[in-house]
Amino acid sequence: MSRMAILIAETEGFYSNYFAHGYNIAGKDKIMGRIIAIANQKGGVGKTTTAINLSACLVEKGKKVLTIDMDPQGNTTSGFGLEKTELKKTVYELMLGECTIRESMVQTEIDNLLLIPSNVNLAGAEIELLDMDDKEYILKNEVDYIKEDFEFIIIDCPPSLNMLTINAMTTADTILVPIQCEYYALEGLSQLIHTINLVQTRLNPNLQMEGVVFTMYDARTNLSLQVVEDVKNNLNTNIYKTIIPRNIRLAEAPSHGLPINLYDAKSAGAESYRLLANEVIEREEK
Ligand SMILES: Nc1ncnc2c1ncn2[C@@H]1O[C@H](COP(=O)(O)OP(=O)(O)OP(=O)(O)O)[C@@H](O)[C@H]1O
Ligand SMILES: [Mg+2]
Repeated sequence: MSRMAILIAETEGFYSNYFAHGYNIAGKDKIMGRIIAIANQKGGVGKTTTAINLSACLVEKGKKVLTIDMDPQGNTTSGFGLEKTELKKTVYELMLGECTIRESMVQTEIDNLLLIPSNVNLAGAEIELLDMDDKEYILKNEVDYIKEDFEFIIIDCPPSLNMLTINAMTTADTILVPIQCEYYALEGLSQLIHTINLVQTRLNPNLQMEGVVFTMYDARTNLSLQVVEDVKNNLNTNIYKTIIPRNIRLAEAPSHGLPINLYDAKSAGAESYRLLANEVIEREEK
């Protein structure tokens, strides 16, 4: 079968699957969606928590969302309740051309939310990608096939500025940078901005800053407030009005395999990610 024939066959499988789920999308209803990569090479700042919960809250607002886990740690994958070791097709197989993008997508427990999962195999991909042509564009070339099926594609990046992150940045329309409200928050930020600028000039001229979102804000400390003020004074970029508080329910939810709006719908964490989703949608409408 030719590549085209395979694609058509898969597309039909994909859409019949969609209709089986009661979704109202068809090939002719193309959506001009937005692809947001969540990046910060600093570890533990809330990238994954934001990827999972922003995705789920966008779906709660009626949007069709694909989440892509680009981190070998696979925390987004397990956070949606998938068993990482049981996955046959992941972003690793996708990046190496061993499956198509539609084959790599799994339906999460949530209607209208699909996931391209990841596990530790992806850690080896970096080296395997080095010899490939267009290695910076492997994800982008695949996402191009399906991007019109979703209103938002959210990509969770690993905590480094490696080839996986570069692939996320060439695929993305915008970069959302979570900043943890703690003392070293600004450390590494200039390097991140520099990388984003490099990608913009050399690889993806359409790339824009989505903005900064503050995470793990603790209203009881002056430090949190100080970090917010520092970033506002030093960074010339969009800053989301919504600030994500430190909230224990957000930390608990992944161990139950649920996003916060399903784990504890009334928690401060759920409320804050709903507000963030609203703001992200409003920015789209502007
Ligand atoms: N707002 C919050 N309130 C409480 N705990 C949080 C919050 N956001 C994240 N956490 C917890 O902090 C830890 C780090 O968060 P997360 O995994 O989202 O960061 P990350 O940037 O994706 O990390 P990595 O760089 O390792 O990928 C996790 O244990 C998470 O549950
Ligand atoms: Mg993470």
